[in-house]
Amino acid sequence: MIEIRGLTKVYGRTQTPAVNKLDLEINDGEIMGFAGLNGAGKTTTIRLISGIIFPSGGNVLVNGKDIVKNKIDASKNIGWVPELPNFEPNSKPVPLLKYYAGFYGLKGSEVEDKIEKLLKRFHIWDARTKKLKDYSQGMKKRFSIAAAMIGDPQNYLFDETLNGLDPEGVRNMRDFMIQLKKDGKSVFLSSHILSELENVADRIAIIRKGQLIKVLERGELSTLGTTVIRVRIQNMDNGAMNILEKYGRVESYGDSLIVRDISISAEEAPRVNRELNQNDYNVPYFEITGEDLEDYFIGLVGENR
Ligand SMILES: Nc1ncnc2c1ncn2[C@@H]1O[C@H](COP(=O)(O)OP(=O)(O)O)[C@@H](O)[C@H]1O
Ligand SMILES: [Mg+2]
Repeated sequence: MIEIRGLTKVYGRTQTPAVNKLDLEINDGEIMGFAGLNGAGKTTTIRLISGIIFPSGGNVLVNGKDIVKNKIDASKNIGWVPELPNFEPNSKPVPLLKYYAGFYGLKGSEVEDKIEKLLKRFHIWDARTKKLKDYSQGMKKRFSIAAAMIGDPQNYLFDETLNGLDPEGVRNMRDFMIQLKKDGKSVFLSSHILSELENVADRIAIIRKGQLIKVLERGELSTLGTTVIRVRIQNMDNGAMNILEKYGRVESYGDSLIVRDISISAEEAPRVNRELNQNDYNVPYFEITGEDLEDYFIGLVGENR
């Protein structure tokens, strides 16, 4: 389990925090997606959790251990797969994994067996005598997952790990993460593409300019992608809200509103517009649409908000 409390990071002399008072928990047996545009603060958050950079405020508990105050115990329970795995170019996979295993206190034949199993599982066993600099990007990624698993940590951080994979690679990686979850691990998976997380995450935390703006729960995830009403009401007030709330759950963004979980069929939905008109509401925009997850995301985090 990872508990993030008020986590804040201000780099160097910059003014605006890259991560700003973030609160989030990633439970055991849960895959938490972490979505935000490029520059939103995902990698910074993941690096803070892994303990390789220090927070300017707040803290992170890994299985109850503070990643700053109790770094050794805490990081033993973290497996981190960076966005662009970067290894000492002349190193070879087996010695490097042995070195990592030492950090977790593993030794001897136990380590040899584990390395063989992991390299086979991630299809790099045949390339085990090659130097890592001769690995393709995909092989480096798979190696870095093997490396993250060597100490059998309880918590996994995957930074944009699905990004750039072909469809088969995405499917394999999803199956792998779902297996981790079934094994009771906690998984934190970032992406700048919300829909990439849709079929794997139990919940999705959305970050914008360093701030957590929403955590989508499982139930909400399944209703995204269904029919919604998008409406703009110039003379918006409580009366208009009451009308909309009869038909579904209303989210408002100023005078732009989205009605979700609508209780009537798409064919019947125009009557909402009629009811608004009959009550003297000025409705310059009314649309019944299938919600596209990526549209929803951009609506939430895009620059024009
Ligand atoms: N080492 C660094 N020094 C200064 N600013 C940084 C550093 N790393 C990231 N940033 C800034 O912090 C913000 C968040 O970046 P990052 O965490 O990499 O976002 P994401 O992973 O969501 O794309 C950006 O504005 C980025 O420019
Ligand atoms: Mg990043």
